[in-house]
Amino acid sequence: MVGCSASGSSAMEQQPPSTPGEALYKSQCVMCHGRKGDLGLSGAKDLAKSTLTEEEMNAVVTNGKGAMAGFGNTLSAEQIKEVVVHVRSLRADEVDG
Ligand code: HEC
Repeated sequence: MVGCSASGSSAMEQQPPSTPGEALYKSQCVMCHGRKGDLGLSGAKDLAKSTLTEEEMNAVVTNGKGAMAGFGNTLSAEQIKEVVVHVRSLRADEVDG
């Protein structure tokens, strides 16, 4: 559960919240999937609407699928996990459908 956004917490730095997965997503995935996962370049599915489980997403990102190359050689297993967590958070943002 993510409770609060920009309220007066005494964090050391006042950067917008950013996870390692979000940074990875922006550098590795945005060009095809878009910031919200819905860009759909070369037939990419809308990640915000994906019905895959976390494990299945891990497998797609590691091994690739269709026009998407795998990231198993580019990212560590840990990084792939982080970026999948971010992808899954895109879905949560889309609840208003
Ligand atoms: C070269 C463009 C490209 C890049 C870069 C890319 N993808 Fe994809 N992605 C695709 C395409 C195309 C598909 C659809 C593959 C298919 O179903 O044939 C896809 C499918 C997926 C799926 C499966 C969605 C579903 O419901 O089937 C996930 C999850 C995914 N990508 C995550 C990522 C993540 C995370 C990254 C960054 C680490 C990434 N992709 C980078 C093009 C890309």
